[in-house]
Amino acid sequence: MNAFRVVDGELRVEGLPLSSLAERFGTPCYVYSRAALESNFRAFEAALDGIPHLTCYALKANANLAVLGLFARLGSGFDIVSGGELARVIAAGGDPGKVVFSGVGKRADEMRQALDAGIRCFNVESGQELDRLAAVAEAAGKRAPVSLRVNPDVDARTHPYISTGLRENKFGIDVPAALALYRRAATMPAIAVVGIDMHIGSQITELPPLREAAARVLAAADTLAAEGIRLEHVDLGGGLGIRYRDERPLALADYASLLRELFAGRSETLLLEPGRRLVGDAGVLLTRVEYLKTGGPRDFAIVDAAMNDLIRPALYDAWHPVQPVRPRSGTSRRWDIVGPVCESSDVLARERDLALDQGDLLAIGAAGAYGMVMSSNYNTRPRAAEVIVDGDVAHLVRERERVADLFAGETLLP
Ligand code: LLP
Repeated sequence: MNAFRVVDGELRVEGLPLSSLAERFGTPCYVYSRAALESNFRAFEAALDGIPHLTCYALKANANLAVLGLFARLGSGFDIVSGGELARVIAAGGDPGKVVFSGVGKRADEMRQALDAGIRCFNVESGQELDRLAAVAEAAGKRAPVSLRVNPDVDARTHPYISTGLRENKFGIDVPAALALYRRAATMPAIAVVGIDMHIGSQITELPPLREAAARVLAAADTLAAEGIRLEHVDLGGGLGIRYRDERPLALADYASLLRELFAGRSETLLLEPGRRLVGDAGVLLTRVEYLKTGGPRDFAIVDAAMNDLIRPALYDAWHPVQPVRPRSGTSRRWDIVGPVCESSDVLARERDLALDQGDLLAIGAAGAYGMVMSSNYNTRPRAAEVIVDGDVAHLVRERERVADLFAGETLLP
């Protein structure tokens, strides 16, 4: 669904003009649509209908409590990568029994926290991590449920920074080493071997890499079963792409039919860890034009959002759509949309043909995933507010930070 539409010459989210949100909450501000969030989750679930599965939303994509609360109420599980994310899931009313814990560098205290919360599975990525987890579980008098993350050595054909399934990446364990580690794990009293997992990258728009990687993981599960190590679940990770510009995202129906084919006749439960696909198109970053700077070789629209608010363009050269909130009929120019941060890489969008005036509002689209969560306080800039629109009601779900909060924990030397 598209919750962001121009109606009567003005960009709206659901029933509200974005300009009214800028008035009320200020800019820069992340604005999400409840209907879009919920319809993304429901569409994902509907596509997988009939396949025994658990969707574990990867909250690294957007960890606002209100977003987590919506998904929790729809029955979602969660894929976490830190003790902090586990605390968020619990604070949002999520079920720890539906949590999987990913990541290459889990600390002992995070393992203990997750064991005490009773999470569903630790996705373990190395032999040393397995040994540490066993020690922590033993000390706690518990058995830790474990899956090993396999690195299937498949190229996800996405941006190299967000590709994770090649042997040269730090993620996962190659198949022969994983099989050996499973055999060892199966003998450890404080470890319960329950699954196998993979995640080959993000913003994937093609099925073949997913098919190839999943086939290797399932073959590994079969090898283990033949040796008497039976797994309860197979976790195929996340990674489904969305449209930013002209990408052709995978149709959920095609993804689901691949999964149906792969899981036909199998007994394991399928786990998935989608992030971007559930939230990416459900949010925009609302920003106001502070100055127009023309006359040089390039024309700059200097806005009040910056790379600290949305780092994807600076970090990955990512393209986000930019839409004026009240489109003008005047002649357009080719603008670089830049922020106030003192870095030449502080660019939100390059070479956009727009008719702009000082004070205009812009919506930077497809900013619901990896936007707010990757924001920082660089240049002592308070992080933006977050708002969720539900019909014609707007909820402030995260206050704008205040400058005094930013250095509240700092002290002068005596
Ligand atoms: N599971 C694991 C183990 C992951 O590492 C990730 C993402 C996901 C699930 C969710 O992937 P998704 O469905 O969202 O593609 N900051 C980058 C994306 C980094 C993704 C990291 N891992 C960006 O802005 O594009």
